[in-house]
Amino acid sequence: MSVDPSSRPEIENLLAEARTFPPSAEFSAQATATADLYAEAEADFEAFWAKRAHERISWFTPFETTLEWDLPFAKWFTGGELNVSYNCLDRHVERGLGDKVAYHWIGEPGDTRTLTYRDLLGEVCRAANALRELGVQKGDRVAIYMPMIPELPVAMLACARLGAAHTVIFGGFSAEALSDRINDAQAKVLITADGGWRRGKPVGLKHHADEALASTPSINGTIVVDRLGGGIHMVEGRDHWWHEIVARQSDVCPPVPVESEQMLYLLYTSGTTAKPKGIVHTSAGYLLQASFTHEVVFDVKPDDVYWCAADIGWVTGHSYIVYGPLANATTGVMYEGAPDTPDWDRWWQIVEDYKVSILYCAPTAIRAFMKQGETYPAKHDLSSLRVLGSVGEPINPEAWLWYHDNIGGGRAPIVDTWWQTETGAILISPLPGVTTTKPGSATFPMPGIAVDVVDAKGDSVPLGGGGYLVLKRPWPSMLRGIYGDPDRYRSTYWSRFPGMYFAGDGAKRDLDGYLWLLGRVDDVMNIAGHRISTIEIESALVDHKSVAEAAVVGKSDDITGQAIFAFVILRAGQEPSDALAVQLREHVAYVIGPIARPKYLMFTPDLPKTRSGKIMRRLLRDIAEGRVLGDTTTLADANVVDVIRDKSGSAEED
Ligand code: PRX
Repeated sequence: MSVDPSSRPEIENLLAEARTFPPSAEFSAQATATADLYAEAEADFEAFWAKRAHERISWFTPFETTLEWDLPFAKWFTGGELNVSYNCLDRHVERGLGDKVAYHWIGEPGDTRTLTYRDLLGEVCRAANALRELGVQKGDRVAIYMPMIPELPVAMLACARLGAAHTVIFGGFSAEALSDRINDAQAKVLITADGGWRRGKPVGLKHHADEALASTPSINGTIVVDRLGGGIHMVEGRDHWWHEIVARQSDVCPPVPVESEQMLYLLYTSGTTAKPKGIVHTSAGYLLQASFTHEVVFDVKPDDVYWCAADIGWVTGHSYIVYGPLANATTGVMYEGAPDTPDWDRWWQIVEDYKVSILYCAPTAIRAFMKQGETYPAKHDLSSLRVLGSVGEPINPEAWLWYHDNIGGGRAPIVDTWWQTETGAILISPLPGVTTTKPGSATFPMPGIAVDVVDAKGDSVPLGGGGYLVLKRPWPSMLRGIYGDPDRYRSTYWSRFPGMYFAGDGAKRDLDGYLWLLGRVDDVMNIAGHRISTIEIESALVDHKSVAEAAVVGKSDDITGQAIFAFVILRAGQEPSDALAVQLREHVAYVIGPIARPKYLMFTPDLPKTRSGKIMRRLLRDIAEGRVLGDTTTLADANVVDVIRDKSGSAEED
């Protein structure tokens, strides 16, 4: 059944499952990906990937073996040698695409830059030569802590050019988060900036970097981009301005051939312990699947103007602002700032100005736009848009329909893409010319991907049932491990259900086989599309001198999906106060970064625990949500719950 939006009754009264949106005949007729991909991949998934690895990657040495699978350790395309930056830049320039725009960059204050593939190649070579001058070689790690400016992808590609791995630390993270990651990666160089623009204000970065570098002995030097006009302290002998050390280099730097399994990058993500995991991605398999999915999921054509409005500090930016689009010689838009600056139509102005044809963003952004109303998008000509994407969290059917009607003009297909930092590329998504979509469902696994929904015993649940989302077959862009910790890799992902990768998400499969992602089943929250573990925030709270114990849960939130709710027990002699609540929130922002600042904070004399001493998060979640309590018979002291519940009405909101 397809739906005419004008005849639709109230959204809230409809069951999501009842509405379906088949692709239009015009769209299907021109779509790159067709339904045969599924059958081809099912017939022989290794041959499917091998064929594409030959076609899509320019090899210095062709690979010999498609897959070596020693569960849970995979090696793809062994024997092959390539260079990722060569695949993203040189080969396009060599075939005459040097003048094609790689990035239209828009600064928040309104300044713009246009970089062609030739410009990008020259700048990447200069940056790679500068890194080399600072001693960076194949196999080293380089940390990157930058705002959304063109030098950020340049820095990543410069590392790839030398066969060094980058680890990008999101610019919103604190000094402590930065130094932890630099130390775990043992990075040799840090590339950063004086700061960037956010919501009309300059936001400094270098002072965090300076603080972090006080405890990072592996760092030999830094390169600092002048984005805000300088005016910062530079440490003699350690800090180098980008416009000096990079600008004076040659724009020739031969790409270093690396093995397929050479580490391309590390990206830290939250898990169920306080220590972030360094997710390892390697070169050939990652590049292949990032570029393949980018092309087929977004139906990217040579003339498209593609905009992924994520931050490069997260995996979405790595795969779908940098590696996938550049490998496909796509023209991209990159925007530095906030969606509401100077007003809530900033994005729609950009779409109109650049004739953006493909937009990829997170449900939290869509919900924020929805809250502002349709007059903002209605002021602009959005008719260039032909495909819309969503990523990072389940998209509620209302937000899906709002996106469809107000941004996509009721015409552009929506691809709801499920994946993770660990998966490297999109694994569950519609193919826009093939799949009939249902608002709120990520639909089906991509060709070649084996997904199942299992019960607690690991048995597949029948259609119509819910359970745990697992992957049953290796895929080229899968994580190769957790940096320096193979045991944690095995126990985190491969031990819950033997022989299967457990993603940590719950899912339901409806009677038509459509997948509906239900969010995390572990103690990891999803705040505005970003994974944050409860225990990291608890550790940051307990790190404060007045706190004895803390428990953190996610509370549903209209805009960010979940919001952080912290229950805090103070040390003896400390008195609860509004001022202390503010101080504790700021402390978390200081230790981890503003994204982790609890929205709600409640002081409590005790926490509900089982007899064995485990905090009963389920009860805390119920309290945070204001729901009726479930069974409390396993509680050590049932009164605790009453005390907390009475107080929760007064939990302070940010
Ligand atoms: O819970 C799922 C949710 O985001 C988690 C992965 O987070 P991260 O590694 O930060 O990567 C986010 C961008 C790829 C998943 O375990 N998630 C991601 N995409 C979706 C989603 N949940 C529902 N629907 C999605 N499309």
